[in-house]
Amino acid sequence: EPAAVQGAGSVKQQISNLVALSLRATVPEVDVEPIVEVCTGKFGDYQCNNAMGLWSKGKGSGTSFKNPNAIGQAIAKNLPACDVIESASVAGPGFVNIVLSKSWVAKRIQDMLVNGIKTWAPILPVKRVVLDFSSPNIAKEMHVGHLRSTIIGDTLARMFEFSNVEVLRRNHVGDWGTQFGMLIEFLFEKFPNWEELGSQAIGDLQVFYKASKQRFDEDAEFKDRAQQAVVRLQGGEEKYRAAWKKICEISRNEFDQVYKLLDVQLEEKGESFYNPYIPQVLEKLSSQGLIEESEGARVIFIQGHQIPLIVVKRDGGFNYASTDLAALWYRLNVEKAEWIIYVTDVGQQQHFDMFFKAARMAGWLPDPKEKKFPKTSHVGFGLVLGADGKRFRTRSTEVVRLGDLLDEAKSRSKSELLQRLTENGKIVDWTDEELEQTSKAVGYGAVKYADLKNNRLTNYTFSFDQMLSDKGNTAVYLQYAHARICSIIRKSNMDVEELKVSGNISLAHPDERVLGLYLIRYAEIVEEACTNLLPSVLCEYLYNLSEMFTRFYTNCQVVGSPEEPSRLLLCEATAVVMRQCFQLLGITPVYKL
Ligand code: ARG
Repeated sequence: EPAAVQGAGSVKQQISNLVALSLRATVPEVDVEPIVEVCTGKFGDYQCNNAMGLWSKGKGSGTSFKNPNAIGQAIAKNLPACDVIESASVAGPGFVNIVLSKSWVAKRIQDMLVNGIKTWAPILPVKRVVLDFSSPNIAKEMHVGHLRSTIIGDTLARMFEFSNVEVLRRNHVGDWGTQFGMLIEFLFEKFPNWEELGSQAIGDLQVFYKASKQRFDEDAEFKDRAQQAVVRLQGGEEKYRAAWKKICEISRNEFDQVYKLLDVQLEEKGESFYNPYIPQVLEKLSSQGLIEESEGARVIFIQGHQIPLIVVKRDGGFNYASTDLAALWYRLNVEKAEWIIYVTDVGQQQHFDMFFKAARMAGWLPDPKEKKFPKTSHVGFGLVLGADGKRFRTRSTEVVRLGDLLDEAKSRSKSELLQRLTENGKIVDWTDEELEQTSKAVGYGAVKYADLKNNRLTNYTFSFDQMLSDKGNTAVYLQYAHARICSIIRKSNMDVEELKVSGNISLAHPDERVLGLYLIRYAEIVEEACTNLLPSVLCEYLYNLSEMFTRFYTNCQVVGSPEEPSRLLLCEATAVVMRQCFQLLGITPVYKL
């Protein structure tokens, strides 16, 4: 049996496999990749677009084909007989429209219900990915930009993990650099007994940072000591390393609180981790003749860029770029990652562009025309704006504390929930625990979803009112949609668990078929979101799915109808897929609202 028929990979992948077989029979003399898309017209579910390209390249002509349409006809005719495809027809210049068999679609859904959503994992061409995300800087506030990186990175990680790709979730924290000289000296000065102090005693690190910066700027003697401290720290002097560790620890505790709230897993490998590798990596690049002297610094000149990439500063110190080169070397050679992905604001695009090019010049990465992997990608994102259209800030303070922000989302969603439950007299059905859990799931989910649903490159406006609205494309609306499906299932007297095994899905009504077909597209959506590193693709799918469900539910009676067993299974499948989308978006689904 051809692999396609065995049901591995996304539906699109399976159709592509069938089309590949047909192409081999139709144009045996040419080696061509199948081009399969979701059908744009109403004559099919998927379409194969190979005929036109084959014709214009002169391939397939000279044979018995008179025009591209004839190639299309042959592709349609040569599709192997199987239970996937109901029919295929040719339109216009040679589009092959493929209609899926209803019973196959139904069976695929039922199989998923029995064997779990993991059976709908797409097959990706990579085994191991390094995902560098969140990556705040020690002693500086973790700001909304880092929140975006954390949320987007976590979702990408979840999508790859779902697709059976091993993900090394890396927190590339800024824990190295000259600011530590000043911080350490200030620690010595302000807290002579710093060694015995717990992190609480030192208090807010941001305040600490500001105070030490002020001291640095105002006092030449302190500045001098601070610069000495950097040298002593980098030289590995015990006392300085201990102080550095203490400062990092305080920061780490603060970051970890946010990760815990967001339910994000990360492994810290900060800039300091790669520091020992820098000299040997630069040595290699140097011996390849890539590093030059320029105005006292050591640099790599990169085609298409006015300014070179500085890898050793004038004072002999290493910088962000040298660290990133060493980290990339480590990720490729020690961790053996095939795809290294960096999630930061778009403002850093030039840095990544330059250092990726440097890695290509060094031969670390293949020419993308020849080989696809290993490869690097920068996942850039836009700014978070306030209602005033300027960079998001709260009241008087210049930055937003992430913990406070999540708290506010939760308390707002709680008061709305309370009000609604009081109005409709349902408050008696809820325990305090349930209220708390639900408002947390809804509130945090709203913050995440508002961030993820936009194309990540555009700036987005942070608005509690908008993200917590129960109308439109919001997490709250989707939570309601999901909870409503759960309540339909609860209302029925039938046992869904039993139906999964003994029942049968029929897709007789057009709205049932549309819903069923959209459900089975799940795998290819995850595939697309991973391939293009776009969480918004998954959000759009989730929202569309809920709309399709609504249409189905409006036109097809479920509870009390003769079709109840089949329709209940469709409800269950929709709920399962929605929950899995929530899971990938890092949102906790709620079952009653
Ligand atoms: N610490 C940096 C920042 O806050 C982000 C680091 C991103 N990762 C990297 N390998 N450069 O802007």
